[in-house]
Amino acid sequence: MQSSIFYGEWGGAYIPEILHQTFSDLTGHVRRARQDASFWAEYQSLMAEYSCRPTPLTFAKNLTRHFGGAKIYIKREDLNHTGAHKANNVMGQGLLVKRMGKRRVIAETGAGQHGMACATMAAKFGFACTIYMGAVDVARQRPNVFWMEKLGADVVAVEDGARTLKDAINEAFRDWVTNVDNTHYVFGTACGPAPFPELVAWLQSIISKESIIQIKERHGRLPRRIYACVGGGSNALGAFYEYLDQDVELVGVEAGGLGLDSGKHAVRLAATDASPGIAQGYKTMFLQNDDGQMRETHSVAAGLDYVGVSPILADLWQRRRVRFEAATDAEVMAALDLTIKKEGIIPALESAHAFVQAFKEAPRLSPEEAIIINMSGRGDKDIFTIAGAYDDPSWKKFIIDKAKEYQTRADRWGDRP
Ligand SMILES: Cc1ncc(COP(=O)(O)O)c(C=O)c1O
Repeated sequence: MQSSIFYGEWGGAYIPEILHQTFSDLTGHVRRARQDASFWAEYQSLMAEYSCRPTPLTFAKNLTRHFGGAKIYIKREDLNHTGAHKANNVMGQGLLVKRMGKRRVIAETGAGQHGMACATMAAKFGFACTIYMGAVDVARQRPNVFWMEKLGADVVAVEDGARTLKDAINEAFRDWVTNVDNTHYVFGTACGPAPFPELVAWLQSIISKESIIQIKERHGRLPRRIYACVGGGSNALGAFYEYLDQDVELVGVEAGGLGLDSGKHAVRLAATDASPGIAQGYKTMFLQNDDGQMRETHSVAAGLDYVGVSPILADLWQRRRVRFEAATDAEVMAALDLTIKKEGIIPALESAHAFVQAFKEAPRLSPEEAIIINMSGRGDKDIFTIAGAYDDPSWKKFIIDKAKEYQTRADRWGDRP
C-alpha cells in the first residue's frame, strides 16, 4: 500500500495550522519507521511476547460441515492481549511514541476497546494517559471505564454534541492542539488526517502478514474470500493488506442495525445513504444530512457505529477492489449464537458482522475453496448486550440482586454511588 496523503480523492490532512509541524514530524517518523526493518522486528517481538502473536488461524470444522461449502478459517484476533485487534495498533504507536521522545498519550474511544488497549500500552511504557469518551458511551460501557481508570488513565466524559465517538475525537484534537510538545494522539482506527490511515493500516497489516503464510500452510493456496467487519476500517485493512494485489475477493461488512429502511444503521459504503464530506481532518463518505451535519447512527455493536470510514477503504470501494455488505442486528445475534454453539468461540458483536456474510456465502462455494473470517475481537465484553438480547431470566435476576445488594449497602452505610 502506498505512502500517501490522498487515496484517490479521499483522505488528506485538513488540520488547524497549529498542528502542521506536529503532523509533519509524525509523518516523518512514520515513513522512517516503515523504511527501518528494525522497527518491524521490534514490533513483532513485542507482540509475540505481550500479545500472543502470531494469532492462530483456526479451522472451523463444525461450521464448515454445517454449511457444506467452502472451508471456513477464523483468524483469531480475539486472542490478542486486551481481547481485540486494537492491541496491534496501540502497541505499534507506543513504540513510535518512544522514538519520538514524548511522555503522554491521549486517545478517543467509543466502545472502550481502543481506550482499554491504549491505557494498557501507557501502563506498560510508563506514559501518562488521557482517554476521551462520549458521556453516553461512558454510561453504557462502565466495565471498560473501570479498567481504564484502574490502569492509571484519566477518563474524560465528553458532554458535547451527541456525546459519542465523534465528539470524543473532537475533544481529543482540542487537547492535542494545546499539548503538542509532549503528547501523542493515538488514533484508534484507519481514519482521521494523514498519516493516521497509513500508520494504522500498516500496523494492522500484521494480521494478513501472518494469515497469508498460515493459509498457504494449511490450505496449500490462497483463500477465495476474506471477510471483515468495518467500523473505521482498521481490522478490515489489516486483514486485507497483503491480499490487495492477489486474486482474492475482499468483503467488508458494515452495521446494518435495524435495517436500511429504518435509517437506524451505520452503513456508509454498502448502500447509498452516505455522501462525500470533509470532517475530523479528512475526506471520506460520511453519514450526514444535507447541511453536512453528522447523522446519528445505530448498531448493536458499539464499535461499528462511526459516521465516517477509512479513506483507504473509500478508495478501494470506489475502485471496486473491496465489496461492501451490511448485516443487521438480528442477523448478528443469530450468527453469534451459531458460532458459540458450533465452535465454542464467542466473537465480539462487531466481528459477528463478518460471520453473517460469510455464512450467507460459504454454502454457495466449493468445498475445495477456503474463506477466512477475521475475528476482530472476543465477545466477553458484550455480555450485557448479548444477555439482554437473549432475554435471559437468570441473568436479569443476577443484575437485579446485585443492584439490591448495592442499595442495601448504601442505605446501611450511607455509601452513595
Ligand atoms: C472488536 C472490534 N472489532 C471491530 C471494531 C471496529 O473498528 P475497526 O473498523 O477500526 O476495526 C471495533 C471497534 O471498537 C472493535 O472493538
